[in-house]
Amino acid sequence: MAESMAGLKRSHRCAELSAANIGETAAVMGWVQKSRNKGGIIFVDVRDRSGILQVIFEEADCGAESFKKAERLRSEFVVAVTGRVEARSGAVNENLKTGAIEVRAASLRILSESETPPFPIEENSKTKEELRLKYRYLDLRRPDLQRNLMTRSRVAILTRAFLADEGFLEIETPTLIKSTPEGARDYLVPSRVHPGSFYALPQSPQLLKQLLMCSGYDRYFQIARCYRDEDLRADRQPEFTQIDMELSFVDVEDVLDVNERLLKKLFQEICGYDLKLPIPRMTWREAMDRFGSDKPDLRFGMELHNVSDTVKGCQFAVFKGALESGGSVRGINAKGQGGMPRKKIDALVEYAKGFGAKGLAYLCVQEDGSYKSSFAKFMTEDELSALVSAMDGQAGDLLLFAADRDKVVFDVLGNLRLELARQLGLLKKDDYRFLWVTEFPLLEYSEEDSRYVAMHHPFTMPMEEDLPLLESDPGAVRAKAYDIVLNGTEMGGGSVRIHQADIQSRMFEVLGFTKEAAMEQFGFLLEAFKYGVPPHAGLAYGLDRMVMLMVGADSIRDVIAFPKVKDASCLMMEAPAPVEEKQLADLGIEVSGEEEKE
Ligand code: AMO
Ligand code: AMP
Repeated sequence: MAESMAGLKRSHRCAELSAANIGETAAVMGWVQKSRNKGGIIFVDVRDRSGILQVIFEEADCGAESFKKAERLRSEFVVAVTGRVEARSGAVNENLKTGAIEVRAASLRILSESETPPFPIEENSKTKEELRLKYRYLDLRRPDLQRNLMTRSRVAILTRAFLADEGFLEIETPTLIKSTPEGARDYLVPSRVHPGSFYALPQSPQLLKQLLMCSGYDRYFQIARCYRDEDLRADRQPEFTQIDMELSFVDVEDVLDVNERLLKKLFQEICGYDLKLPIPRMTWREAMDRFGSDKPDLRFGMELHNVSDTVKGCQFAVFKGALESGGSVRGINAKGQGGMPRKKIDALVEYAKGFGAKGLAYLCVQEDGSYKSSFAKFMTEDELSALVSAMDGQAGDLLLFAADRDKVVFDVLGNLRLELARQLGLLKKDDYRFLWVTEFPLLEYSEEDSRYVAMHHPFTMPMEEDLPLLESDPGAVRAKAYDIVLNGTEMGGGSVRIHQADIQSRMFEVLGFTKEAAMEQFGFLLEAFKYGVPPHAGLAYGLDRMVMLMVGADSIRDVIAFPKVKDASCLMMEAPAPVEEKQLADLGIEVSGEEEKE
């Protein structure tokens, strides 16, 4: 019995009405949030994406037919109501944008009915996410998700306007391409016309935007969909969106400058946050030494202390062993946490082990100056007091130490620092601490492949002063690469690219590419570079991550309309799914028996 829109036109969204409209006639449409029948009078909350509005039905105003319909209303029915805007007859509802008014209905149409939804449509839902994702179209009716997606839309629109003003062109690049070198696994799409050949979905438009620079479009941007087949986390999706840009005739400073102004604009408009420029910068080296992370969260201190020199001569086997095998001993001081119960400390040790620690040495400085510690018995009184003072330790502090290879020590303490901050409630969501991390290592040694691999990608420009080290000490070469970090999340990253053929061939050589292999993979780019290539540089933000930080969501899924879950499947569409034999036959694809069983 769904009625139509014939002769009816919406005048306002529900929460666009206010006391200023009292006395006017309005036509609103939306979903029934709830309906309360008090005998001769029915109160109905109508909801649309602007908010909720109270509507009152009395037979004397709306007539018998509409009143009868109003009696039938249930949650999530879609209705159209016309009526007069009035001051609230009952108490003003301070929690509601429209809390001072109500609409006295003159007519009601039921545009469609609804079965009882599998969960209530309400803010801060307690319903399990799995169920909500299966019925994502209902989940998306909830005000918090609607706000998130509206914010996301505004970010995209503001970004477009800002970049257009700065002389950027919006250019689309294809999504059926050849593999791009961003380091994750590709999603592949089989070709029907070329059996046995595959397109790759882009991990980013990296090579294409570099080609656009070769073609003279000097400032490009795109809000680009990217695909990466990697392990998912709270801030990672297999398909996600980048605000991607590339600029010609620029160096690091130019890229950072335009992006600082973009960020200032976005955080002003969206969060009302006054971002002070310039954004602080920190080299990768300093970030690792002080925070054990290349994306430090600057909302709190608890910095790492390198105590390797202090404990050099001690007999504690754990410290001694780490130093002898070329590692380090570092610690963090959890100020005032010396009274932490043993059980909680043990839990921290377990947490540390999750990041590869063999253990976690601790020392509580007691009020009487004595120590409660897992290793004090292995050290002299003098060694202990030197260690405590190197850690700025005072009575009541909890000192935690990791001893291992640097990589493990950083990983353990960097994460432990965050875990302690979470436990101590130090992470305020509306405190925005931006940071550029610069001078990343160009290369990273891969134990798995027994060779150096590019940390960013093979087209990243080394710092000029480090060029002589490229062959002799590749691990020491720093890159003209930068990440923008916000509250401990890598929101974006980019680099100056290599535009000189000689440096590019040296880079490929260090990476262990033969000329043929490089041509095979990136031939089109190397060819293009033969015909006049401008110096260029760029950056890409994760749009999803940016919005997640802006709205204070805990998961990237909360700012994506139809996200995927941990195993990369969509619970609503049930994708991925097997396909018909005929489709496979057309593509010349045969699924091996084992995979079919899976
Ligand atoms: P990068 O690989 O650092 O750089 O990606 C840029 C930004 O994209 C976001 N991001 C993701 N967001 C959600 N889910 C994912 N799986 C995911 N992976 C990355 C992050 C990241 O900072 N072509 C280069 C950019 C350049 O050099 O210009 C690139 O893609 O926020
Ligand atoms: P053990 O002598 O192995 O019992 O270790 C003594 C203390 O050192 C325990 O608190 C361990 O958790 C800790 N420990 C062990 N290995 C390490 C390590 N690599 N770094 C820091 N502490 C460690």
